[in-house]
Amino acid sequence: MKFLIIYYSDYKNNTEKIAHVFANEIDTELINIKDVNDVDIKDYNLIGFGSGVYRERLSPKLFKLVDKLNLRDENVFVFSTSGIGMKFYNKKLIKILESKGAIIKGNFACKGSFVAQEVTNNNLFGIIFAILGRLSQGHPNDKDFKKAKEFIEEVVDLL
Ligand SMILES: Cc1cc2nc3c(=O)[nH]c(=O)nc-3n(C[C@H](O)[C@H](O)[C@H](O)COP(=O)(O)O)c2cc1C
Repeated sequence: MKFLIIYYSDYKNNTEKIAHVFANEIDTELINIKDVNDVDIKDYNLIGFGSGVYRERLSPKLFKLVDKLNLRDENVFVFSTSGIGMKFYNKKLIKILESKGAIIKGNFACKGSFVAQEVTNNNLFGIIFAILGRLSQGHPNDKDFKKAKEFIEEVVDLL
């Protein structure tokens, strides 16, 4: 089987670390779209789409790329890393993938570390960000990597 993972990761490479865990489990091609605009997705059995979360959203670059792809009947999964590590950040991308006829095989999220001062200078949210930033330190950690490993095994079992 042929696997491809397309991801955007540029802040602390947190999302890239998760992509590498997936790649260690299944022999997959990895493409960080930070410096890439077009990707050939022909002949893959499974395609993963991942991103860090930046100001409440996955990377606009990922959305732009997905918009261009023909994903009808393609098996796909979605993953993200964010300060709070919640799956709801993936919702919009999942909706778009579904609307393009892709088959969603999985949805993964975990925390990725960030430094509050680097993310916001808004005083109102400053304290909240400072707390969230503290809680995110060290992530993704070994527990996150273990979850990522289990996740990708489950996804491949579904194929
Ligand atoms: C400019 C910026 C904005 C961010 N906004 C959010 C956010 O809205 N919610 C959140 O949970 N984390 C937020 N974060 C934290 C990142 O999602 C987290 O560090 C993520 O793991 C970054 O992924 P990367 O290292 O793969 O680029 C933000 C980080 C940056 C740099």
